[in-house]
Amino acid sequence: MADSTARDILVTSALPYANGPLHLGHMLEQVQTDIWVRFQQSRGHNCRYVCADDAHGTAIMLTAEELGITPEQQIEQMHAAHLADSRDFHINFANFHTTHSEENRVLSESIYLALRENGHIAEREITQAFDPEKELFLSDRYIKGTCPRCKTPDQYGDNCEACGATYSPSDLIDAKSALSGATPVDKQSLHYFFTLPAFADMLKEWTGSGTLQPQIANKLSEWLDAGLQEWDISRDAPYFGFEIPDAPGKYFYVWLDAPIGYMASHKDLCEREGLDFDAVWSSDASSELYHFIGKDIINFHGLFWPAMLHSAGYRTPTGIFVHGFLTVNGTKMSKSRGTFINARTYLEHLDAEYIRYYFAAKLGSGVDDIDLNLEDFVQRVNSDVVGKVVNIASRCAGFLRKGFDSRLEAECSEPVLVQEFIAAGDSIAELYESREFSKAIREIIALADRANQYIDEKKPWVLAKEEGRETEVHAACSVGINLFRVLMTYLKPVLPAMAEKAEAFLNCSLDWTALDSALVDHQVAKFKPLLTRIDPKSVEAMVEATAAAAAAKTDNTPAANSEAEQDDNTIDFDTFAKVELRVAEIIAAEHVEGADKLLRLTLDLGGEQRNVFAGIKEAYPDPALLVGRLTVCVANLAPRKMRFGVSEGMVLAAGPGGSDIFLLQPDAGATPGMVVK
Ligand code: 2FM
Ligand code: ZN
Repeated sequence: MADSTARDILVTSALPYANGPLHLGHMLEQVQTDIWVRFQQSRGHNCRYVCADDAHGTAIMLTAEELGITPEQQIEQMHAAHLADSRDFHINFANFHTTHSEENRVLSESIYLALRENGHIAEREITQAFDPEKELFLSDRYIKGTCPRCKTPDQYGDNCEACGATYSPSDLIDAKSALSGATPVDKQSLHYFFTLPAFADMLKEWTGSGTLQPQIANKLSEWLDAGLQEWDISRDAPYFGFEIPDAPGKYFYVWLDAPIGYMASHKDLCEREGLDFDAVWSSDASSELYHFIGKDIINFHGLFWPAMLHSAGYRTPTGIFVHGFLTVNGTKMSKSRGTFINARTYLEHLDAEYIRYYFAAKLGSGVDDIDLNLEDFVQRVNSDVVGKVVNIASRCAGFLRKGFDSRLEAECSEPVLVQEFIAAGDSIAELYESREFSKAIREIIALADRANQYIDEKKPWVLAKEEGRETEVHAACSVGINLFRVLMTYLKPVLPAMAEKAEAFLNCSLDWTALDSALVDHQVAKFKPLLTRIDPKSVEAMVEATAAAAAAKTDNTPAANSEAEQDDNTIDFDTFAKVELRVAEIIAAEHVEGADKLLRLTLDLGGEQRNVFAGIKEAYPDPALLVGRLTVCVANLAPRKMRFGVSEGMVLAAGPGGSDIFLLQPDAGATPGMVVK
């Protein structure tokens, strides 16, 4: 049944950077949003989903420069690519705009001017690292140097990946600009700040009002309790963005105009379709407003954005729906393992609806990470969607066609069963509404099991061979088709393309609002396959293609500017070439008191001795047996201070761990100190 009154709802998902292609992490969010939006539409609500490309910032400017094109060309190409990817994943945007648009410029300027008018913009000089060659200010990620704590070279300006230390770029030893290699100099410039602390009370009230997920409300209140800082909303030229009014050479920081891009996309839609923009955005708006985002950007959406909206006289969001990250096979997506899968690569090998279903089957309302386990993916989709849901229709359609000209029985022979399926829609709808998609899917598949059980009990394939049982065959298959119709109505937000094919077969539309009783005396069409099984080979091919693309990519690929797009597991060739491997002779080996796993090895690297701790005690419980053995050692690893002393290198070993660890041994003829190539 439909809800009684139609709601007006505007929904957004995070604007992808126009700096690189969409990957499955983006698609998780867009699919989650799209399912929710399609569900609302199916319930008869006026729900619109707007999005856009996030087109500004230094990274986009540098990417374009490296590619030898203008930023405008770069963002135009990406816009077309992103839109095509989303469309092919059946993401039903009402509008997919760009933050580099006139609507966004006008709105960003007017919001900024309102903040300034209200006394919420402060100005002051700050000192920052400046690249004298490229002539631009360097954010932390564009400065590299040696970690001041553990001395590991080539670390970013804010933290060390080797020892986890956090610091400011000026603490780095021998800091260099990652863009030109020049030594950064300190330079002052005037910056503009949004006075966020002025909104502490307003934000406490808003975050505590019960509209946020509890984990998110807690995180925000931790930040609120710790005290808010003013937010730097300006960047110096050269920068790809909007110039700040009355401040020549100063640009809005990308994160100022990015969320305003939600409004701009909606404004563009309103202008095109004659809709009322103010009905959504004015301070007394009746429309609901929801932002779907990942957990890495809650500060922008949960603090800066509502405060800006409030100061500028707009409404605040009704809710922010935060999801966790996507992992693949239990770990962070990795280019080298072939699991950092681009949306397009996926589409080249697999149907979008497979992963829409899988994501739905895994998504809940919380912020836990979602794992795409590739084996489970194949098994789950094949078993649930093809084996259970499609199977209901395919089992019944043939008999109906052969014996009854594809016409359903004139009166429903199982009205109670069909009504039970329809009645289950209320709790399934509640689960969709609260984004508990995995629970909704569980209920739907439990119904599919019941439908299959019903057909199994009736056995139309047996009855069809017996004389005089036609009415029973007709009844069983008509009921089966009716149950299929209800299930596909519930699955339509998740599987829109399959639902469209089912609508053609069923000869009726599958809207929640249209579900009230069984279809009777109704003509259905010829059944055509709705979805085929996933061939595991296609998944393998997708992983191989991803890994091959990563391997082929040269190390001058433009840097991505999103955290999620970083890949910890890949090193470029230059990094690899820096590793110095040498043959080492173990001249002493002993237990380390108080350490469960470590042995202390004294290595001879051809005249030079090193003290190295190695976690191989379980595999080599008698250290004396190691003495005299040759192995391979990383000779230029920065010394690391450990609990038991300083380790001056690392020996190479292979194996799963514990007692199954094997020290690598060079071929005969190798001598201590030899370089391993
Ligand atoms: O983190 C990101 O990928 C940003 N481009 C998201 C922006 S969301 C919104 F605020 F624009
Ligand atoms: Zn370090």
